[in-house]
Amino acid sequence: MEESSGSGHSASATFGMNKSALSKLEDNKENKSTSTERGRAAIVFSLKNEVGGLVKALKLFQENHVNLVHIESRKSKRRSSEFEIFVDCDSNRQQLNEIIQLLRKHVSVVHMDAPDNSSLPEEEEMENVPWFPKKISDLDKCANRVLMYGSDLDADHPGFKDNVYRKRRKYFADLAMIYKHGDPIPRIEFMEEEVQTWGVVYRELNKLYPSHACGEYLKNLPLLSQHCGCREDNIPQLEDVSRFLRERTGFTIRPVAGYLSPRDFLAGLAFRVFHCTQYVRHSSDPLYTPEPDTCHELLGHVPLLAEPSFAQFSQEIGLASLGASDDSVQKLATCYFFTVEFGLCKQEGKLRAYGAGLLSSISELKHALSGNARIMPFDPQVTCKQDCNITTFQDVYFVSESFEEAKFKMREFAKTIKRPFTVRYNPYTQSVDVLKDTSSINSVVEELRHELDIVGDALSRLNKHLGV
Ligand SMILES: [Fe+2]
Repeated sequence: MEESSGSGHSASATFGMNKSALSKLEDNKENKSTSTERGRAAIVFSLKNEVGGLVKALKLFQENHVNLVHIESRKSKRRSSEFEIFVDCDSNRQQLNEIIQLLRKHVSVVHMDAPDNSSLPEEEEMENVPWFPKKISDLDKCANRVLMYGSDLDADHPGFKDNVYRKRRKYFADLAMIYKHGDPIPRIEFMEEEVQTWGVVYRELNKLYPSHACGEYLKNLPLLSQHCGCREDNIPQLEDVSRFLRERTGFTIRPVAGYLSPRDFLAGLAFRVFHCTQYVRHSSDPLYTPEPDTCHELLGHVPLLAEPSFAQFSQEIGLASLGASDDSVQKLATCYFFTVEFGLCKQEGKLRAYGAGLLSSISELKHALSGNARIMPFDPQVTCKQDCNITTFQDVYFVSESFEEAKFKMREFAKTIKRPFTVRYNPYTQSVDVLKDTSSINSVVEELRHELDIVGDALSRLNKHLGV
């Protein structure tokens, strides 16, 4: 199980993006000009049944010059100790935003209908959203929920009857289980047998890469040797790999004891964290593993995680999964499986692998590009319904023109996922901003405006330099 991909980003594509972003900013300016237009808005907030609560809340309206047209109260159906206040007011968008912010400090805002028809997500809807990590250290809460632990191997696992191997697996599992965000990843003194197994996999796969792997993979693989000591006779240390990836794309590695649930695994990607196993497959069959091992992670995944467009693609799948329903997470995980693990792309008219499941499996890599495998264009709406095979070859492989194309399709697919908010990764705080009201969206617009100022400044300097 593995995969790879292909992409291309050009100066013209970058310019195109900025142009569209600029026009959106112009739209936003127009929106801003309407923020002073007045209109009727309805707000529902709930109060605890205590003396003076209502007076305090209504005073906020008075102090902010928001004209109240109608007020009603009723017993809360949601919490019997509270009652709800319905307020119909005459206000502009800006005043409304301010009053909502202030109200939130004192009461729970249940609902809002604003002049421009925007509304707050229903609180009930938010209450039904599954928990998800909001900051990178929250991964400590879900990275240990492995589906199988250490020496618990299935009866058909090649190492099932090998007590030494099972003990070794427990050692790796224990290391991963006590790991906390920010810790250095423990360095492993690999046993001779483990290095030999790795060596066989490394040697055989390297024979296939020039004719089977995508260009981005081939470009990055030598960097892994250069920066992390990845060689036939040396298994790279995850700590070195993590440092290397951080410098290339901001991805970091987190050791994991085994399979995570799709929800927990994808959540890591949202923070550009890749959960990596550190154990080596059983030596009895170096070319087969029924589960991801460090050969799969290092030779399959890492070279492409060092590619900016692929790193972004992976993160976007992760972000789309946060707070999504079980059904949506399953669909995203299936798309992940047929792209990041088993994806194909076209390069110079030829099929190439970018999936890590393919790039770490000699037999399946040969099969996928043999001309005998069934190949279909990557289309998330179709791909998400395909069955994933774990111990046999896939029935079908999906091909993208490039990472950029796959990213675009996934982005469109993510918009169809039902969620009462959208999320944005904040790299400064390594946290996820939940965008569910106008104030959080405005802060993104402010950041974009600043970024566009930088672009404008760079362009004017370039023009000056070129004498335009
Ligand atoms: Fe994988």
